[in-house]
Amino acid sequence: MGITGASGSIYGYTLVRALHQLGVETHVIATEMGEKVMQFECGIGMKELKEYATIHSNQNLFASIASGSYLTDGMVIVPCSMNTLGSIANGVGDTLLSRSASVILKEKRNFIIVPREAPFNLIHLRNMTRLAESGACIMPASPGFYHKPTEIWELANFMVARILDMLGIDHRLLERWGEKA
Ligand SMILES: Cc1cc2nc3c(=O)[nH]c(=O)nc-3n(C[C@H](O)[C@H](O)[C@H](O)COP(=O)(O)O)c2cc1C
Repeated sequence: MGITGASGSIYGYTLVRALHQLGVETHVIATEMGEKVMQFECGIGMKELKEYATIHSNQNLFASIASGSYLTDGMVIVPCSMNTLGSIANGVGDTLLSRSASVILKEKRNFIIVPREAPFNLIHLRNMTRLAESGACIMPASPGFYHKPTEIWELANFMVARILDMLGIDHRLLERWGEKA
């Protein structure tokens, strides 16, 4: 999992906890701005995330996940800034996060990117297209409202449920459309 300096770190925090609850081994890399924005928006730091996942320094390119020979089921970057999206779309791999993303793409593993920006400029859109053409799933931080949420965590759960679905991980975070009699 990558956590970057886009707004919406609640999605990342909710996903880390959900994966932990579901017994999924999770590795987390946060960018410097990812850490700062998460602290600012959620009051959560890496110390708290350590309870749920293995935390890697974004500078440590010697980490296991920097190599394709280390087997993983996939990667989610949530929230994903336009800065990180741009570097990955253009083949940059100078941090553990961008290198791991490049590994996931070359190994053709499940790659989910949850971008957050509004509005998107043409460069953002082109970068997303490049990533989609390379096999990534672009899943905008754009929760639905048809489950009639009244609390912020319900919006976060909506996005996390969709991410878990894409990863093929069974969960009961949300009632599915059509489930109610
Ligand atoms: C409070 C806050 C919210 C931000 N929200 C966004 C955002 O939603 N999307 C985005 O692309 N950048 C956003 N930024 C700007 C990024 O943090 C900035 O571009 C940074 O360089 C991203 O670095 P990273 O990709 O290494 O995390 C935000 C910055 C701050 C301080």
